[in-house]
Formats: sequence, structure tokens, C-alpha cells
Amino acid sequence: MGKDKLFTQFNIKDFTLNNRIGVAPMTRMSAAKDSIPRQDVFDFLVHRAKNGASIIYTEAIVTDYESAQGYPGQSRILNQHQIDAWKPVVQEIQKEGSIAIMQMFHCGRMAWPEINPANRIIAPSSLTPEQENPLTEAPYPSPESMSQFDIEHVITGFVETAKGAVEAGFNGIEIHGAHGYLINQFLSSYSNNRTDTYGGSVENRCRFANEIIQAVKKVIPDNKLLMFRISNWGVADMEVSLFDTKDEYQEIIKRLSDEPIDVISVSTYEFNQKAFGTNKTMAQLTREVTELPIFICGSIFDRASADEALEDADIILSGKSLLLNPNWVEDIRSDKTLNRYQSEEANIAYTEKVLL
Ligand SMILES: Cc1cc2nc3c(=O)[nH]c(=O)nc-3n(C[C@H](O)[C@H](O)[C@H](O)COP(=O)(O)O)c2cc1C
Repeated sequence: MGKDKLFTQFNIKDFTLNNRIGVAPMTRMSAAKDSIPRQDVFDFLVHRAKNGASIIYTEAIVTDYESAQGYPGQSRILNQHQIDAWKPVVQEIQKEGSIAIMQMFHCGRMAWPEINPANRIIAPSSLTPEQENPLTEAPYPSPESMSQFDIEHVITGFVETAKGAVEAGFNGIEIHGAHGYLINQFLSSYSNNRTDTYGGSVENRCRFANEIIQAVKKVIPDNKLLMFRISNWGVADMEVSLFDTKDEYQEIIKRLSDEPIDVISVSTYEFNQKAFGTNKTMAQLTREVTELPIFICGSIFDRASADEALEDADIILSGKSLLLNPNWVEDIRSDKTLNRYQSEEANIAYTEKVLL
């Protein structure tokens, strides 16, 4: 049962976490041309470690200067200045007894025109989301279908970013395979209609993710965590189920579990929503087919929802609650009555006003 589990330790590899609570990755769009986040964004991460979260994720870090960036002001860990900027942040998080995880991503077709220095927009197939970009309120641009060269180049970006994270001292690295971004676009037949070895069967659609995992694994020491985040929804065309059936989803989880990863992080909008027309949640369907630790996220906002979510997962991640309430960990420890935050309230993330 989830009850009483929340404030127990969790062992993962060489790490012992003090509780089961982590800060979900949150893009803050604060970086200037140097791709380094603003100081208050760094401070936010350190403060949440001080506030008691045992896992601190970075925002989604962009993996190259070519085509990976999806939002203005995103960050990179690809050069010495960027690595040096993250080092003290990572150290301060670790001083609090928490672990620091770098999440890395490529936006693929979820691109914002003209923010990538090379202004290329690439995806598994030349298909656009139906919905407009909610932030620009303009249609997404039409992507080029990726060549074999593009695929290898993008994988190199993930590898170089992972090396940057290792150099900066992060405890782990997460590959962002969720929310309709590039890796998720390969996994889902909604955005992948390729006829080569990267499209068609589930095995082929998993190939890109698997190649990234294998390539990244080679450059990170054994004591670092390697995680993979997945979701059945994307930030555009949100109502679309990105995987057709429970069986398809579970086959993907099984294939990922055969790869050298340490955690599957499942991102949902509502952790307790039933999935694929079954009477089971995403976490339960994931648990059925993997022995890996499971992180769960999605509308966990108070003690009761946290306890319930932990029944089928090992760690809960919070986005909006930990963004907007610095005392959230203590508030759920004391079972305080808490508000559930709306996405509009979280838009404060893109200003300097987030409470430390
Ligand atoms: C401001 C903001 C930025 C986000 N950026 C990312 C991101 O960079 N990477 C990611 O995987 N999820 C991102 N998310 C999604 C969160 O990690 C989380 O999955 C989502 O907010 C649902 O959790 P919650 O209900 O606890 O907020 C973001 C969410 C918010 C509110």
C-alpha cells in the first residue's frame, strides 16, 4: 500500500533517497543566448532540495544547436561555460542529500520557427500536429523527414549532452521520450509513418529510442542513473492516444526494460485515470510488464493523492505543486488541505516570480 511509503527511504543503485518525492522536469525558458538558465531558476532547483524533495530534475535540456530546441530560452550543456554554470547547482543539490538529474530532449516537429541557430525542423515523418502551437497560436511548421545522417547526428547530440551532464556532476540522466517530442514521435504511429527500419512495427518504432539509450549508456559511468520518460499524450493534439492499445504500450515498455535503463518515468495528466479502455492506470499497466522502478507524475497535489499514486509506483514527481508551493513536501507530510493548481497558474514559470 502507498500509505506510509511516502516518507520512507528508497534505494536505487548507490543512492539512498530520503523520501519518495521528486521535482518533475520543468522548462523555464529563462536562458539568454549562452543557453545558461537565469540564476533564480538555478536557485529554484537548490531551494526545492532544501525544501525536502529528494530528486531534482532539470528542465528539458536541448541536445544540439541544429534542430533540437523547441521553446525560446531553453538551455544546453554542451560547452565548458554551460557545464561550469551547472556544477555549483548540482553540488548544492547534493549537499542537501538530494540527487540531481539532467533531462535531455529534442523537440522534433514540436518546433518553434527560427529559434534553432540552424533553423532546421526535423521529425520521423513530414507530418504536423493538427493543433496550433498553444504558445505562439500559429500552426506548427512542416518538418523534414529525417535522413539516416540526421538520425545519427541527433543521437550524437544526446551523447554530447550526456557527457556534459557527467562532467557537471549530475547523478543521473533522463532521456525525454514523452509529450510528443522527437523520441515520442518515433515511438508513436500517430507521427511516424516511415517505411524503413525506424517505422512500421513496434520494434522498428523503438529503434531510435534504443539506439539513443545504447549510445548514451556508453558515455556515462556505471554509478550514474539512466532514466527514460514516457507518456501516452503530447502537448499538441492532447486528446490523441499516442499508442493504439494497451498491448502496444506494454510491448514498448518491455522493449525499454530490456535496455540498460534504471527507471521508467511515466508522465500522465491524471495519475489515476484509466488507460486504453482498461480499468487500469498507466502506472499499473507499466508495473505489469516491468520490474524497473517506476516514477509517476500527473495531478498529485496532496497527501491522499500522493499515497494513492505510490501504490503503483516507487517515486512520485510533482510539477505544478512543487513549482508554486515551496512548502509542499512539509505540507503533505502534515496532511494539510491543499489546492490543485491549474496550468495557467504554472505559466508563472516563465517569469522571474516563482517563489523560492
Ligand atoms: C512550467 C512547466 C514546464 C514543464 N516542462 C517540462 C519539461 O521540460 N520536461 C518534461 O518532461 N515535462 C515538463 N513539464 C511537465 C511536468 O514535468 C509534469 O509532467 C506535469 O506538469 C504534470 O505534473 P503536475 O500535475 O504535478 O504538474 C512541464 C510542466 C510545467 C508546468
